[in-house]
Amino acid sequence: MTSGSENLQFFVEPGGRFRGSIRVPGDKSISHRSIMLGSLAEGTTRVSGFLEGEDSLATLRAFRRMGVEIDEPHRGELSIHGVGMGGLKAPDGPLDLGNSGTSMRLLSGLLSGQGFSVTLTGDSSLSGRPMGRVTEPLSRMGAVIEATDRGTAPLHIKTGGRIQGITYQMPMASAQVKSSLLLAGLFADGETCVTEPAVTRDHTERMLEGFGYPVRRDHNRICVTGGGRLQACTLDVPADISSAAFFLVGASIADDSDLVLEHVGINPTRDGVIRILRLMGADIQVLNRRQAGGEPVADLRVRSARLKGIEIPPDLVPLAIDEFPVLFIAAACAEGETLLSGAEELRVKESDRIQVMADGLLELGVEAVAKSDGMLIRGGRISGGRVCSHGDHRIAMSFAVGALQARGTIVIDDCENVNTSFPGFVELASGAGLEIQQALEPEAV
Ligand code: S3P
Repeated sequence: MTSGSENLQFFVEPGGRFRGSIRVPGDKSISHRSIMLGSLAEGTTRVSGFLEGEDSLATLRAFRRMGVEIDEPHRGELSIHGVGMGGLKAPDGPLDLGNSGTSMRLLSGLLSGQGFSVTLTGDSSLSGRPMGRVTEPLSRMGAVIEATDRGTAPLHIKTGGRIQGITYQMPMASAQVKSSLLLAGLFADGETCVTEPAVTRDHTERMLEGFGYPVRRDHNRICVTGGGRLQACTLDVPADISSAAFFLVGASIADDSDLVLEHVGINPTRDGVIRILRLMGADIQVLNRRQAGGEPVADLRVRSARLKGIEIPPDLVPLAIDEFPVLFIAAACAEGETLLSGAEELRVKESDRIQVMADGLLELGVEAVAKSDGMLIRGGRISGGRVCSHGDHRIAMSFAVGALQARGTIVIDDCENVNTSFPGFVELASGAGLEIQQALEPEAV
């Protein structure tokens, strides 16, 4: 289990449906970046819609420990009293980033050019995730970073000389790698250019521009020049499409559902889940399109639909990278086969999401064949049973909504980390119609 000996379990009964209108918590990626750029800006940045989940709070605490005054968030509102580009101070010990890969990878870049040494640590899941993808290009920039022999955390970022801009062709489509290098590039001499093999989420680029920092974008190539300044601004963080995804799938598979998800970020680099579900036959309407904090947002209305299996177009994979656990649930409830390929990145997320989902689906009587880079799922009906989330928030919530179409109760183990991205999930989902309860397993060892 992820948190000592405690096992937080979800118990979900079949027969629910989603109705009404809800707002899921703020976007995790944007919340992290609001703290990072707000801290480096000159002046006070006011944020609303901030995700008060463990991951973004890990970033917030890290910056406080580097001398940034950040007001305690209240109902998603907070103020960050920026210290300017040269104002961060050495923390008095290692920065613990918990379960948060985004914090560790983006901070590796941001802290590479700071003139002080710092150590980044994380929980057992984060300590097993590959960091060479950022430490390798950062060391080409002149950063001095020590990792374990396996290229994992803890990461010791050492005081070195100045770092230099580079031109880097990323081997994998990763917004975390891109962002890490761009954030390092703010402190580097000259220009840093990153080319991505496929488009990934562009929140860093958008937010840099929102803080007045020039970013040069040419298709898949993004460049920044070091030595500029950030000006504080006001940020409205939209609801997280990755959290909305559980409800998009849940309302699609549960009979008699009709749900509105309010103020959801629909950035075209994140909307793969909507596009994939529509290809499967989902009934999703995008209403009241508008802009908030430099990001497109909308209300999403989703109603029950008969889903069919599809071959998922490879170009949509990076645009839905966090939504595959719940898309596998959609596939399990669809008619016919669904095939996902080109998604080997899923193996190095908070858990090995291909293996963990395949194991859970098999446990629930669904034919699922794990592949090195994806999964084949034969749709049918989910039975009741007991599955383990392996401490992965998105796996836990995916199986929870799967119960909407199950034949019996689904019990999910190791759900504590749902708080990393979706505090209040159980309350919000049960208010919208999911028959869910949570409890600590008493005699867990
Ligand atoms: C994120 C990028 C994605 C995503 C993660 C958040 C970000 O990771 O899976 O949850 O905020 O930049 P990769 O860039 O490793 O694909």
